[in-house]
Amino acid sequence: MTEKKTLLAALILTLSLALASAPAVAAGEEPAHAEQQDWTFAGVFGTYDRNQLRRGFQIFQQSCSSCHGLEYIAFRNLSEPGGPQYSEEQVRALAEQYTIADPDAEGGEREGIPADRWPDPFPSDQIARDANGGALPPDLSLMAKARSIHLEFPWWIFTYFTAYQEGGADYIYNLLVNYHEAPEGVEMQPGQYYNSFFSGHSIAMPPPLADGMIDYEGEGTPETVEQYARDVAAFLQWTADPHMVHRKELGFRVILFLIGFAVLMYLVKRRIWRDAH
Ligand code: HEC
Repeated sequence: MTEKKTLLAALILTLSLALASAPAVAAGEEPAHAEQQDWTFAGVFGTYDRNQLRRGFQIFQQSCSSCHGLEYIAFRNLSEPGGPQYSEEQVRALAEQYTIADPDAEGGEREGIPADRWPDPFPSDQIARDANGGALPPDLSLMAKARSIHLEFPWWIFTYFTAYQEGGADYIYNLLVNYHEAPEGVEMQPGQYYNSFFSGHSIAMPPPLADGMIDYEGEGTPETVEQYARDVAAFLQWTADPHMVHRKELGFRVILFLIGFAVLMYLVKRRIWRDAH
């Protein structure tokens, strides 16, 4: 194969791989428009904002945790660097507020300790369904990895270059801010709520946020549904991907190394072939 043909084949292969990995859209179903947010953890140099993660945890604890679990998060993870980074005393005091089912303990229950996982709000899936009109509130630990938003044709191509990994947080944000009155003529089933972002527009989760419902410590952070939604989405991005910042840093260093190495190899090649004419 000539060099040109090899290049062309490589180009076609790259393009078809990119196209194949584009999010598939079910025929006939128009995906809802998603508003992308400015996340501190976006881009190659992004990092989690500790204060935002703390606010997000507060929202999770005071609203979401009455229905949703956080199976893969232990209390002590909340004190790890890169996360909400509460002090160890704060985490111990937090864990003590919860009762943990433990068959080895007297009476089958005991006070929580930092090593315990976040306790499930319901003792079984059946009880969770019964409390939620038949729908099971999914565990939220990995939700930000399980969902993403739909981007229109040319835009998702750029995500390869901007290191876009915030689709999960964008999804959760858009889900939480898009509860509306059902439009005229749309009849909702009992126990279902109209949400213009959720696929099918009908969801079994009642709107979990309302303006002013949770008090943030200190002044300055708006107490609005949008702000709560952004904060809890950032927190859930962290629970799903606590090592994202480290991975991006490493990726950046690897690229720098490869560029340096390429320059070095070029100079070596010039030197070796210097006398060949
Ligand atoms: C009163 C109970 C309840 C509360 C409180 C609640 N949820 Fe839910 N949630 C549900 C139920 C039930 C479902 C399943 C909905 C369905 O499948 O129709 C659900 C589903 C979800 C989903 C998955 C949607 C999807 O794409 O499948 C996300 C994300 C979610 N909730 C986030 C949250 C967040 C964040 C909070 C807190 C701000 C919260 N929920 C508070 C009951 C609740």
